[in-house]
Amino acid sequence: MASSLCLYMTIHLLFLYLSSHPIAAHNLSRSPKPMCLEDEMSALLQFKQRYEITNVSADPLAYPKTLSWKNNQDCCSWDGIQCDENTGHVIVLDLGSSFLYGSIDNNSTLFQLPRLERLNLSYNDFNYSQIPSQVGDLSRLTHLDLSASVFSGRVPSEIFKLTKLVDLNLCCNLDPYASTLLLEMRPPGLRSLAQNLTSLEVLRLGAVNMSSEVPSNVANLSS
Ligand SMILES: *[C@@H]1O[C@H](CO)[C@@H](O)[C@H](O)[C@H]1NC(C)=O
Ligand SMILES: *[C@@H]1O[C@H](CO)[C@@H](O)[C@H](O)[C@H]1NC(C)=O
Ligand SMILES: *[C@@H]1O[C@H](CO)[C@@H](O)[C@H](O)[C@H]1NC(C)=O
Ligand SMILES: *[C@@H]1O[C@H](CO)[C@@H](O)[C@H](O)[C@H]1NC(C)=O
Ligand SMILES: *[C@@H]1O[C@H](CO)[C@@H](O)[C@H](O)[C@H]1NC(C)=O
Ligand SMILES: *[C@@H]1O[C@H](CO)[C@@H](O)[C@H](O)[C@H]1NC(C)=O
Ligand SMILES: *[C@@H]1O[C@H](CO)[C@@H](O)[C@H](O)[C@H]1NC(C)=O
Ligand SMILES: *[C@@H]1O[C@H](CO)[C@@H](O)[C@H](O)[C@H]1NC(C)=O
Repeated sequence: MASSLCLYMTIHLLFLYLSSHPIAAHNLSRSPKPMCLEDEMSALLQFKQRYEITNVSADPLAYPKTLSWKNNQDCCSWDGIQCDENTGHVIVLDLGSSFLYGSIDNNSTLFQLPRLERLNLSYNDFNYSQIPSQVGDLSRLTHLDLSASVFSGRVPSEIFKLTKLVDLNLCCNLDPYASTLLLEMRPPGLRSLAQNLTSLEVLRLGAVNMSSEVPSNVANLSS
């Protein structure tokens, strides 16, 4: 009788302890990573819809990454996407060599991903689109790769607002039929670049038409 009362007291005390320490009990199961945000997933799906999937790349490792993007899944687990572990915001969009064919403009839903840090659209075919000046609003970008994707026209000065850029690649936007240069950077392009993008460590401007002298402030790019 005494021992069963003792057992009862022990269980009762254990129950009291657990119920007064809900955080300790909760921590037994690891808290799950946040899922992708609804509006960012919808922006990504609309981006996907705008492009035809065509073999536009000579890259043997190219494949259509967006084909696996499905509405009912967490977009943080999609091919080419990485999210911030704490907030769930998309911070990496890597669609290099993804067989994308179609145009892009300032209205692209890609610009509804305000926390992007890395954007890679290289080795696709954006069908002679201008580089949208809206890209200058992705103020957290550290890596921007728009190489070899049939972008044309003037490099917009808004790119020089991206002061956190470490790696900028605008190389190799050639006409796939005539191999002529498609992108040009007019003065004071390179001067503005050197003035503002002081964190740059990698800068690739091969095959960008720049008929100007190299400004002396390029020496400011100390990294
Ligand atoms: C339990 O989780 C809370 C809230 O996430 C945290 O502040 C606390 O440090 C965790 N405790 C342990 C022992 O992990
Ligand atoms: C895409 O085309 C290239 C030739 O331009 C070819 O080498 C490559 O194997 C093709 N890739 C696929 C997945 O069909
Ligand atoms: C972008 O993607 C291409 C093709 O997959 C890759 O070669 C390149 O290194 C990537 N660029 C960056 C900055 O990661
Ligand atoms: C590519 O551009 C041409 C000329 O502007 C246009 O006729 C064609 O519809 C575009 N193709 C795609 C897939 O956007
Ligand atoms: C972008 O969207 C605005 C408002 O929806 C529209 O007026 C404009 O014509 C669009 N621009 C392009 C290039 O589609
Ligand atoms: C984007 O909008 C700016 C003005 O806000 C305009 O000068 C530029 O031509 C537009 N770019 C594209 C690709 O539509
Ligand atoms: C340099 O960066 C600042 C701050 O983002 C911006 O206001 C300015 O327009 C940029 N300069 C150029 C030439 O783009
Ligand atoms: C570069 O641009 C200038 C001015 O628009 C043009 O005259 C020249 O032919 C272009 N050079 C090349 C190699 O495309």
